[in-house]
Parts: sequence; structure tokens; C-alpha cells
Amino acid sequence: MNPTGHKVNRCTFHSPVIRARPPARTIKSSERAPRAISFGVKMMDSAVSTSAGAPDALISPAAERNSAAILEVLRAHLPARGRVLEIAAGSGQHAVAFAAALPGLDWTPSDPSPQARASIEAWRTHTGVANLRPAQAVDMLDDANWPSEPLNAIVCINMIHISPWTAAEGLMQLAERSLMRPGGLLYLYGPYREAEVPLAPSNAAFDDSLKARDPAWGLRDRGEIETLARSHGLALTLRRAMPANNLSLIFRRI
Ligand SMILES: C[S@@+](CC[C@H](N)C(=O)[O-])C[C@H]1O[C@@H](n2cnc3c(N)ncnc32)[C@H](O)[C@@H]1O
Repeated sequence: MNPTGHKVNRCTFHSPVIRARPPARTIKSSERAPRAISFGVKMMDSAVSTSAGAPDALISPAAERNSAAILEVLRAHLPARGRVLEIAAGSGQHAVAFAAALPGLDWTPSDPSPQARASIEAWRTHTGVANLRPAQAVDMLDDANWPSEPLNAIVCINMIHISPWTAAEGLMQLAERSLMRPGGLLYLYGPYREAEVPLAPSNAAFDDSLKARDPAWGLRDRGEIETLARSHGLALTLRRAMPANNLSLIFRRI
């Protein structure tokens, strides 16, 4: 039970960025929820709670769990200053956590889903993080609203397996045209298939559940992502194993 007496799933815990929020009213949560929450477009899994005091502010238990480990990688590799665009920012929990922890960066979250953008805005307003910009409607399947300004980095967490392959292609096109060169950074996080590493049973089950939801979704092969990136002038410079059978991948603009 949380302080208001609402039952809280044991997967929901408090991250530094939401400690000050009103208690969560948990609707449902899991590490990788088998069904998407409906964000209008096919969207996001696992963000399934709302804050009782800010109903637009979604809470993703997975984002709470993985924020610290992702931040450690970002802190080590992002520049101290510069412009970062986050693609598929979802609930906005990562955006407020990372922007708050990396105050020299100008952080713009984005998501094509109006519900996600409302959540990001609720978190942004609630936390008042000064270097966090309003959420943009940026869709990897439609370059009409892609930002035109040069970027130091693009961060994309848990999107390319929950969207068609063409979204990964769009992401690489955006990175090619927007990242400063040389050295502009593309950060990807999520579960992958890898030729040289046996697929973890949990990732195999997750892949099955994704494909059941949409046959165009599914875990991507890291080698294929690397080949796609190379064709857009990006070289893989870091592969790091992360908790729960995920990977951090960093690509640099050549
Ligand atoms: C699993 S959620 C991940 C959200 C957040 N990055 C996180 O890890 O908590 C997947 C996100 O991908 C976004 N998404 C789906 N298709 C997209 C596309 N074509 N372009 C950009 N974002 C997309 C969804 O709106 C959703 O917010």
C-alpha cells in the first residue's frame, strides 16, 4: 500500500525525479507489460500508472528501473554541453531525470503520441527542470516535423523494436542529417538479437509478444542495425550489456 492506501504493484518504485510527486495511483505494471498502453498510435508498453495529483503524468515502472543505469552511460559519453533530441520519450520520466542530472545539455524530448507529450509536459511542469524543453511531435515515419537544427546527440530508448523497421531507418536518416560531425552521438537502448550471443528466454518471449501485437514489431538484430547505421555515416563505438538483457549502443557520426 502507498501512503494514500492505494495498492502499489511491487514493480513500482520511486526514482529520484518522482520522489516529490503526488503518490501514484497504480493501474497496472510489469517489467515488460505484454500489452501496450494505447497512445493513439501504437505505442508504449509498461507505462501504466498515472499520478493522482497530475493525471496526465504517466509512470513507467520500467523507466523508473532503468533510468540510473542508462544515466551512467549517458553521463560518461554525452558532451558536457550541447543540444540533445530524445526520440520516443514516452512518459517523460527519462527526460526529466536525464536533463536534471546533465544541466549543461539543452534537452528536447519528443514523441508522436499526444498522450505521451501530455505526460512529458506534466512531468516537465511538475519538476521545473530548467534545461528541459517542451515536447515536440517528432515521428520517425514522417520527416515533415523533423527538427532542422544541428544536434550534438540523439537519444532513443526502447523504440526500434516497438515500431516497424522503417522507424529505425527514419532514425538513422535523422541522425545522418542532424548530428554534428565528426563525433555527433546516437544512443540506443533496448533488447536486441545478436549473432554471437544466445537470446535470453525473457527476450525471446518478449519478441513473441511484440510480434503477436504487430508482426512488423520485434527485436532487431544488432548487426543489421550496425549495417543500417554505417550506411548513414554512423559507426558503432560502444556496446554495453545492461540489466534485464538490454543493450546500450552508441554510434558516432563519422
Ligand atoms: C516502449 S515506449 C518507450 C518510451 C520511453 N523511451 C521509455 O523507455 O520509457 C515506445 C515509444 O515509442 C514511441 N514511438 C512509436 N513509434 C514511433 C515513431 N514512429 N517515431 C517516434 N516514436 C515512436 C511511442 O510513442 C512510445 O512512446
